[in-house]
Amino acid sequence: MHKIAIIENIHQDGINLLKNNPNFEFEIIEDTSDENLIKVLPNFDGCTLRVSKLNEKIMSNCKKLKVISRHGVGYDNVDLDFIKKNNITLLITATANAVAVAEHVIYMMLFISKGFNQYDQEVRIGNFKKNSSSITTLELFKKEILIVGFGRIGQSLIQRCKGFEMNIKVYDPFVNKETIEKFGGKKIENLDEGLKMCDYLSMHVPLTKKTKNLINYSKLKNMKKEAIIINTARGGIINEVDLDKALNENIIFGAGLDVFEKEPIDKKSSLLSNKKVLLSPHSATFTNECKSRMSIETIKNIIDFFENKIDKSMIVKL
Ligand SMILES: NC(=O)c1ccc[n+]([C@@H]2O[C@H](COP(=O)([O-])OP(=O)(O)OC[C@H]3O[C@@H](n4cnc5c(N)ncnc54)[C@H](O)[C@@H]3O)[C@@H](O)[C@H]2O)c1
Repeated sequence: MHKIAIIENIHQDGINLLKNNPNFEFEIIEDTSDENLIKVLPNFDGCTLRVSKLNEKIMSNCKKLKVISRHGVGYDNVDLDFIKKNNITLLITATANAVAVAEHVIYMMLFISKGFNQYDQEVRIGNFKKNSSSITTLELFKKEILIVGFGRIGQSLIQRCKGFEMNIKVYDPFVNKETIEKFGGKKIENLDEGLKMCDYLSMHVPLTKKTKNLINYSKLKNMKKEAIIINTARGGIINEVDLDKALNENIIFGAGLDVFEKEPIDKKSSLLSNKKVLLSPHSATFTNECKSRMSIETIKNIIDFFENKIDKSMIVKL
């Protein structure tokens, strides 16, 4: 019998897979404080993980822990050195969430471009068309989008951008020209050149030492005044203070953020009062459909791991 800790509850569809499998027992752990995880996690052979952090302090007494199944694809909340040293396998929901994130990007690009926030408010207060000449709105048609990071989500986004007849540039040093062209994009070698030319910028890289602050004030300063930036990848890839400053100085047109350097976002963050930024609470994958797909894949990965039939694309290479 394998004992599984569900760290933070997940959609019932995944839980049902465990309930119906006689080889597994599970417990849902809602108290994700370090103190509680240190106390309870040593009882389990495997766990699922949403956004809470699994550090060395928590895992050092978990002698039975063989597998961590991430409900998602990012894993910057796991101490990778520790799990590598201790032979703990890390799994991700590699196929479940790309479409939901790509749709979220398109939604943010359209919402900002079409001035929805302002138009909606004007109608509600009786200013039907009164201030419409003061509201700038834009089209996606024939505009240039720069997709930074061309993995699962970047590849899902490009297909949606083609529907809007956008010109698509891709910056990803690890993906070759032929692959990008097969998807209908054009590979660029120099990020600064791409930033100068693009009308839309969408980030889809992991957060690493190399990508932290990848977009900072000096990069923003070289972008078009009409440029719109979307970050659904990880907070910190775009420097938040620099972004706020660039928006206030009209260096760029607008931004959409689903992810933040600190989550939940700091109540004192000046982004909260900046009207040029559209915010969502790391919710790009919160569609009903995606929540179900992710929970099923998270649990299926755990079951497949213990039954020795795990799909290699779900395993993070450490
Ligand atoms: N907002 C959300 O809810 C949400 C959901 C899923 C994923 N994400 C985040 O989205 C990001 C992308 O996810 P994915 O599934 O597409 O990942 P992926 O691993 O499939 O793709 C990442 C791509 O980034 C490229 N890359 C790495 N370093 C780079 C660099 N310095 N410059 C340019 N490209 C670089 C890699 O070559 C790879 O092609 C991750 O940060 C992930 O955590 C967020």
